[in-house]
Amino acid sequence: MTGQKTILRALAGEAQDVPPIWMMRQAGRYLPEYRATREQAGDFLSLCYNSDLATEVTLQPIRRYHFDAAILFADILLVPQALGADLWFVKGEGPRLSTVTGQADFDRLAPAADIHETLNPIYQTVRNLTGALPGDVTLIGFAGAPWTVATYMIAGRGTPDQGPAHALKSENKELFDALMERLTAATIEYLSAQIAAGAECVKIFDSWAGSLNDEDFETYATAPARRITAELKARHGNVPVIAFPRQAGDKYIGFHEKTGADCVALDDSVSPEWAAEHVQVSGCVQGNLSPKHMVTGGPALVEESRRIVSAFRGGPHIFNLGHGITPDADPDNVQRMIDAVRGA
Ligand code: CP3
Repeated sequence: MTGQKTILRALAGEAQDVPPIWMMRQAGRYLPEYRATREQAGDFLSLCYNSDLATEVTLQPIRRYHFDAAILFADILLVPQALGADLWFVKGEGPRLSTVTGQADFDRLAPAADIHETLNPIYQTVRNLTGALPGDVTLIGFAGAPWTVATYMIAGRGTPDQGPAHALKSENKELFDALMERLTAATIEYLSAQIAAGAECVKIFDSWAGSLNDEDFETYATAPARRITAELKARHGNVPVIAFPRQAGDKYIGFHEKTGADCVALDDSVSPEWAAEHVQVSGCVQGNLSPKHMVTGGPALVEESRRIVSAFRGGPHIFNLGHGITPDADPDNVQRMIDAVRGA
């Protein structure tokens, strides 16, 4: 059964008067202490692979805000790197990777079972955190969903419409499916190792699920999430899983049942009232305050936070943003959001 931690109670289906709260990208550039530690590490990737410093930045938002959950500090693009892709970050622009567009590129990738050598420092961060976190804070591990990670591997960067991945899917389905298969197997390996190291639940980020049409959504978002969830639960005693098919819209409906996920995370394009009626009826939901309020603050921040708490009050809910907090956010607005949610 679940322990007493508020996040695990929500994931087990319990409605709580005050929902537990954490925030996507809670360890990030909006925090001066994060910027200082990243500086110490040299750059973002060095920070991810430095277990001591990654532990430190994971703990920073817990110390400052007493969130109910800590999320492992790492990145979804470490999996392609562990499969053999080159990965680097261009300041002010974002990630760059060597591309997978032909069979020869695919053939150079490592087998899924070989990712651990590269990713061992990440598992060490998880082990550090299990000893360092306050007893009431849940540790969340994570990975990107295969489709979202594939969009970066195929284009070699972030894209507004995931055009290159859609093109490969229609022009060379065999290769595309082979890449999806490799990523699904690697994601299971990666999350399984995080859980073995001490992650108490895991979240699967499908940031670009919204660009898949109905049939593709079933094949490339729902089915991989179902397979990853089933395999992790089989290996790790029903470990709770949070699925985030961002921008799924109507396709959020039934996602719990179709995938077996314990919680479905919502972006801020759906109203909390709609989601309470159509999605929360199936299980725990997480979300979904617009991250813009962390920049703009004011009465709207408090009103919208309370509106979300009130809409989801009847069922299991984990309060969060609808997407990651942005670097231009004001750290004081985060405290205002927490106070509004906790009723302080
Ligand atoms: O605090 C946390 O949420 C945990 C750590 C975390 C990071 N990335 C750290 C990070 C998590 C869960 C992620 C997930 C992630 N990474 C996603 C899925 C969620 C989403 O935002 O849709 C995606 C698509 C990525 C890939 C990625 N990583 C991009 C596109 C970028 C550049 C954009 C940006 O914000 O600069 C990153 C870099 C990144 N990952 C940063 C952080 C804190 C900023 C890097 C820095 O410090 O310069």
